[in-house]
Amino acid sequence: MARGERRRRGAPADGARTAERAPRGGPARRDGRVGGARGAAGGAALAIVVLSVVLGLLGCWLLSWHRVRRAVTLHSAPPALPPDSSSPAVAPDLFWGTYRPHVYFGMKTRSSKPLLTGLMWAQQGTTPGTPKLRHTCEQGDGVGPYGWEFHDGLSFGRQHIQDGALRLTTEFVKRPGGQHGGDWSWRVTVEPQATGTSALPLVSLFFYVVTDGKEVLKPEVGAKGQLKFISGHTSELGDFRFTLLAPTSPGDTTPKYGSYNVFWSSNPGLPLLTEMVKSRLNSWFQHRPPGASPERYVGLPGSLKWEDRGPSGQGQEQGQFLIQQVTLKVPFSVDLVFESGSARAGGNQALEQLAGSLLTQALQSHAEAFTVRFEKTFQLKERGLSPEEQALGQAALSGLLGGIGYFYGQGLVLPDVGAEGSDQEVGPALFPPVPLFTAVPSRSFFPRGFLWDEGFHQLLVQRWDPQLTREALGHWLGLLNADGWIGREQVLGDEARARVPPEFLVQRTAHANPPTLLLPVAHMLEGGDPADLAFLRRAFPRLYAWFSWLHQSQAGPVPLSYRWRGRDPALPTLLNPKTLPSGLDDYPRASHPSANERHLDLRCWVALGARVLLRLAEQLGETEAAAELGPLAASLEAEESLEELHWAPELGVFADFGNHTKAVQLKPRPPQGLVRVVGRPHPRLQYVDALGYVSLFPFLLRLLDPNSSHLGPLLDVLADSRQLWSPFGLRSLAASSPFYSQRNSEHDPPYWRGAVWFNINYLALGALHHYGHLQGPHQARAAKLHRELRANLIGNVWRQYQATGFLWEQYSDQDGRGTGCRPFQGWTSLVLLAMAEDY
Ligand SMILES: *[C@@H]1O[C@H](CO)[C@@H](O)[C@H](O)[C@H]1NC(C)=O
Ligand SMILES: *[C@@H]1O[C@H](CO)[C@@H](O)[C@H](O)[C@H]1NC(C)=O
Repeated sequence: MARGERRRRGAPADGARTAERAPRGGPARRDGRVGGARGAAGGAALAIVVLSVVLGLLGCWLLSWHRVRRAVTLHSAPPALPPDSSSPAVAPDLFWGTYRPHVYFGMKTRSSKPLLTGLMWAQQGTTPGTPKLRHTCEQGDGVGPYGWEFHDGLSFGRQHIQDGALRLTTEFVKRPGGQHGGDWSWRVTVEPQATGTSALPLVSLFFYVVTDGKEVLKPEVGAKGQLKFISGHTSELGDFRFTLLAPTSPGDTTPKYGSYNVFWSSNPGLPLLTEMVKSRLNSWFQHRPPGASPERYVGLPGSLKWEDRGPSGQGQEQGQFLIQQVTLKVPFSVDLVFESGSARAGGNQALEQLAGSLLTQALQSHAEAFTVRFEKTFQLKERGLSPEEQALGQAALSGLLGGIGYFYGQGLVLPDVGAEGSDQEVGPALFPPVPLFTAVPSRSFFPRGFLWDEGFHQLLVQRWDPQLTREALGHWLGLLNADGWIGREQVLGDEARARVPPEFLVQRTAHANPPTLLLPVAHMLEGGDPADLAFLRRAFPRLYAWFSWLHQSQAGPVPLSYRWRGRDPALPTLLNPKTLPSGLDDYPRASHPSANERHLDLRCWVALGARVLLRLAEQLGETEAAAELGPLAASLEAEESLEELHWAPELGVFADFGNHTKAVQLKPRPPQGLVRVVGRPHPRLQYVDALGYVSLFPFLLRLLDPNSSHLGPLLDVLADSRQLWSPFGLRSLAASSPFYSQRNSEHDPPYWRGAVWFNINYLALGALHHYGHLQGPHQARAAKLHRELRANLIGNVWRQYQATGFLWEQYSDQDGRGTGCRPFQGWTSLVLLAMAEDY
């Protein structure tokens, strides 16, 4: 993942090929010979030269045209998921969900033209001027901690949000019925953070619904001009109705007095909703509960006049944005009910509204069912974990499931048109529109799909709900292009795009990413669930194409070696050019990038891939593929070849190989700032001295035989507190490394240079557990290390959660503090599987 996200308005250019290049040789030469050839012979010669140049260019152009086309053409293998698998007819229970992870609370449909709902809130009267409007999850808005206490990934969730003096609880529950995804209800409860406060805050909640296109929303106005409900119709949802119920005291049915405002306009574009509401909050209203003194508040214009902001007549095609604002004193609860027309067809007209005490009951019974299912699945109580640790486990799972999003759109792709370093260039092209159902690493900072994160996410999700994992894997495999490539970062749709800086929008088709999706695939194979196997049968051609692309496109300088394409160029401002495709961004590699590099982690990922694909092919009876994969898997697993290419006797561990010297440093050089200085010894081809996660890969991915002579030395560095062992988990880079905790440039703080990352620690736990169960000289030691590492990891994540209320992106190896972004309920949620000892 890349740091440095900042907000951006609007969408970038539509991928038009703007990279016009000056012709070879640069601007017209001034030596006066250009116009000199006037004779007939000269003319003919010139014509031949021009013709051959044109033909040559045409050939190159055709080749790159062909490559560009393949880059943005979807793979032709049959889809891994049945067509329409996201439609309400095929998967009604998954049609509605909290699929907008970047908003504090909202739901939408799994649709290319979804109906979206969301919540904004503001505490009135705290500051002069406009109150702070809360809507999208932000790192720096002062809200938090927040997160899901429960979320079952399907039909129920309860989230707590702390916002200054306020404590919000947002709950939803779905009720199946009809052909359009059924009903759902929300309850939002707002209470003061501290009890006994004399002046209770006045709070506004803004419930909105947005349509994107032809759908029609119709506000139903009562006799006194008040909004009774919003009805609507779309082809996917049929007829439906939203009703905002009168607020009550929490846990009570006594109505409380609320002031209402509404606003109705065309959809300004999803990334602009907050701005639009802010810009409209410019009128002063009075909240006048009977028997109390009136209080002023900022509100929306207040009438249900259609506010068409767009050019006349276009409002409806752009979609609509309808907001209801309710303002009152805390504490209170408000229910919002969505009712699907077709759930009321036939004999069901009298279906009772899922609100009030009926909603209270439904929420309660779902919470109880969640707790029972949670213990049945993970057995934390049975394993003796404390109730607080169990609550952390539930929050880890719920946060991950509550972070699942549904995205739809076109990514920007930079096709690979030739050999690395060639000066042939094309501009970015638009990938076809695709849907993606995926979990996300962080709701506030990375609210979109990341390929290698997702493999870790699904390890946890599949234990809870294998169907969700099949959906997610099926969607990811749907992104495969004609060459078998999947982009590592998926920025699909306006909402996702608005949060990504332009330099991270474009995905290069030459770049890979660890094939971690094969980890949940391996788990499916072990489990043998018939539904999983049926899915794998459909998915096999795509998995195979994906693996083949990885193994071929990232081939290294010698057979059975592999090299990540796409290291950063050797700029003078970089201590060690980064390797973003590896996922380990700034983990130190060879100091001088070259085509001679052999990357140990990649070789291990490919070996794991070959192993999983081979097992899959054998189990599915794909004999041809199995015959091809067999020899490759065998050679990649042979320890002699691993030893020959990656064992560094002088270092006593496995290592990368490349053009390298240790003697690099960043030194201040005004006015440029920090500049890399290379000393002696000069770089030469050798093993890269960077002891850390990469050194452990043959062990992490369980590629070593338990009797291997290399296992002992790896366990030594792992268990050595001067190297990888810390009281908070394994650090990413040895404390003894010259790169330990070093910035990569003036603007680039250390990332994978010492901090403890949960995903790799989870792999280490799994490996220790594995070797602790296999006979061999290191069995007892591995088992003991497993116990200690597990206790350290769980203990630290737990302490940090207690202290901050968040799971974090990484943890300091020096004091255990959570660092990076938060909440990070991507792979840090694997703490639950560590608790459950499920690897
Ligand atoms: C290693 O890098 C140095 C500095 O760029 C270069 O001069 C040298 O030729 C490289 N050696 C090899 C073997 O690539
Ligand atoms: C490792 O060696 C021991 C003793 O020679 C043997 O019993 C065991 O089966 C070996 N383990 C494997 C996985 O080969």
